[in-house]
Amino acid sequence: MTRLLHISDLHFGAVDDRLIQPLLDLAASQRPDAVIVSGDLTQRARPSQFSAARAYLARFSGPVLVVPGNHDMPLYNLPVRLAAPLARYRKAFGAGVEPSLTLPDAVIQGVNTSDPFVWKAGRLRRSSVARLTAAFAGAPAEAHRIAVMHHAPVPAADGTPADIAEPAKALADLAATGAQVVLSGHTHMPHAGFAETAAGVLFLQVGTAISTRLKTDANDVAVIDLAPGLVTRTSWIARGGGVFEPSFLLRFRQGSAGWQQSAD
Ligand SMILES: [Fe+2]
Repeated sequence: MTRLLHISDLHFGAVDDRLIQPLLDLAASQRPDAVIVSGDLTQRARPSQFSAARAYLARFSGPVLVVPGNHDMPLYNLPVRLAAPLARYRKAFGAGVEPSLTLPDAVIQGVNTSDPFVWKAGRLRRSSVARLTAAFAGAPAEAHRIAVMHHAPVPAADGTPADIAEPAKALADLAATGAQVVLSGHTHMPHAGFAETAAGVLFLQVGTAISTRLKTDANDVAVIDLAPGLVTRTSWIARGGGVFEPSFLLRFRQGSAGWQQSAD
């Protein structure tokens, strides 16, 4: 079995300091094989915010896979945003904005969906689709094929439409890459679901891990256990800056018709 800790939307610059240690404690107790961070490391893409985010992620043991979100590009400094949108992000997290990670039960490929021209909404680029296709084509048959992208091409938990360009095309493109699980953030609401046109793809979103920018009544992260043909996702929530506690558990089995939520 492989265990992931999925966190997102940390927003350094708007962090609830009370949650800094509880999230580290959760990671220490759950002992994930990797920590997956699906974007929005910072609030305003300032160098000091990236430094704080990098220093914080260095406190987790094991591999940490990070992709950028829209907040990791400057919002107001248009010349910088258009000329070098992720320069500050790259300085903190390395030149590659689409990293990959291979674990015993999973091949994980990061995708950069940030779009400097529109800032808030995302975009699934053709180059990212090609990278996903190549990563998944070479994966062992039993391995879960997992894409990590800040913006998901499915509606949020409250029905807000997907905040990505051409969502129907993004869905079809993702399904064609062989992706089986897509981990995202952006909406600040936890959600798990499917799309009719991409039955083989399971979409798992988490809210904001440690920021004050809440859209629900709690911060949340997810512990995801991967076994062949089975994904078990436990949502962990922290209310009022307290410790993270297990909330709901969802189990998904992979069948010939795609993913099915399972009661046992
Ligand atoms: Fe965010």
